[in-house]
Amino acid sequence: MSTLRFAIIGCGGVTLQNHLPGLVLCPDAKVVALCDNDAPTLARAQEQTGIAIASTRHEEIVHRDDVDAVIVATPNFSHPQIALDAIANGKHVLCEKPLALNHADSRAMAAAADSAGVRHMTAFTYRFVPAMRYLAHLIQRGDLGQPYHYRSCRLQDWGTRGLGWRQVKKLAGTGELGDMLSHRIDFAHLLIGPMRRLIANTRVFHPIRGGQTNDLDDCVAILADFQNGATGVLESSKLASGRNESWRSLDYVEINGSERSFVFITGEWNKLQTGIVGGPGMETIEIPKEFWKTPGSPRDPSKGDPLVTFRYDQAWEFVDAIRAQRPCVPSFHDGARAQRVMDAAVLSAKTRQWVELDEDSKSGE
Ligand SMILES: NC(=O)c1ccc[n+]([C@@H]2O[C@H](COP(=O)([O-])OP(=O)(O)OC[C@H]3O[C@@H](n4cnc5c(N)ncnc54)[C@H](O)[C@@H]3O)[C@@H](O)[C@H]2O)c1
Repeated sequence: MSTLRFAIIGCGGVTLQNHLPGLVLCPDAKVVALCDNDAPTLARAQEQTGIAIASTRHEEIVHRDDVDAVIVATPNFSHPQIALDAIANGKHVLCEKPLALNHADSRAMAAAADSAGVRHMTAFTYRFVPAMRYLAHLIQRGDLGQPYHYRSCRLQDWGTRGLGWRQVKKLAGTGELGDMLSHRIDFAHLLIGPMRRLIANTRVFHPIRGGQTNDLDDCVAILADFQNGATGVLESSKLASGRNESWRSLDYVEINGSERSFVFITGEWNKLQTGIVGGPGMETIEIPKEFWKTPGSPRDPSKGDPLVTFRYDQAWEFVDAIRAQRPCVPSFHDGARAQRVMDAAVLSAKTRQWVELDEDSKSGE
C-alpha cells in the first residue's frame, strides 16, 4: 500500500490537538508538509514535528506533486480559498468547521470537490464520540419511534477574555453560533434530519474582549421545526459562569420520541441515558465495546484520555475514505447543511422573524 501524504495548512490549536496526533496513528499515512502564515508558529511546528517541507503561503504547498491530501485548519474566512485551491490541484480535503462564512461558499466548495472527484470531509469532530455514534445507530435502528423533540445545550465559561480572530466578524463570520453550535446543528441533522424553519436569538454581552472590539455573538439560541415534524431547542453560550472553559463543560443532547428518550453528554463518552415511554425514569446504559472507536481505526481506546483521543478517529475516517474511494462522513455536504442553518439563524436574529429553510431543497442542503 502506498503511503498517503498529507499537508496541513494552519498549525494552531486544533492542528496540534487533533490533526497531527490523529494522523500519527494511521498506518501508511504521513504529514509531509506544513503551512502557517505566521512564520514563528510555522517554525515551532516544524521544530516539534521535524517536517522539512514548509511555507507561509498555502499556494506553495497545495500544488505539490508529493502531497495527496490537505487539511485546512485556519481561521474560518480563509477556508474556501484554501480548499478550492487544493481541490483545483486534485487534492483530497478535510476542512475545519464552519466550512465558510456563508452557505453559498460552503455549497460551492462541495460542488467543486464533487466535480473534481476528490474526497471531502468537514471536521464535525464530536460525531466521533463513541456515545454519539451509538446513539445515531440506535435511532437509525428505530429505537426512538417518532421523534418529538431535539434539545441541545452547550455551556462554557469563557468570561471576558480576548478570543483573537474568533471575535472578529470578517474573520470568523459568527461567534458562538459557528464555533460551538455548528457541531450541535450537525448532531440535529444526524439524529433527526433537516430543519424546516427556525427562529433565533443572539447576543453580544461583551463588545470589548481582551481590550479589542468583539462584534460577534457570545451566545445563541434557536427554536426549530424539523421536516419530519419534530421540534428543536438549541442553546450555546460562552458566558455560563463557573461551567469551565474546556470540552469538559456541559455538552448535552436530549431526544424524546414516541418510544423512548435518550440523553447524550460528551463528558460521558461511553454512556447514554435512556427511558421508555411510561417507564420509571431514566437509566444509564453502557456503550458496547465495538462502538468505542470507528471500524478499522488504529486507535487503542484504552490508551490516553478518552475525552481527547476520540478526536483521532476523524483522521482515520479521512484516510480510510481516501483509500476506499468512498464518501467521507461527514462530508462537505454536511458542512454546507449546517451552514445553511447558520445563515438562517443570523437572518432570523437580525429580522426577529421565523426563517423557512426548505424552499429550494428537500435535503436541507
Ligand atoms: N473541529 C473542532 O473540534 C475544532 C476545534 C477547534 C478549532 N476548530 C476550527 O479550526 C480552525 C482553526 O482553529 P484553531 O483553534 O486551531 O485556531 P488557531 O488560531 O489556534 O490556529 C489557526 C492557525 O492558522 C494560521 N493561519 C491563519 N491564516 C492562515 C493562512 N491564510 N494560511 C496559513 N495559515 C494561516 C494562524 O497563524 C494560526 O497559527 C477554525 O476554523 C476553528 O473553527 C475546530
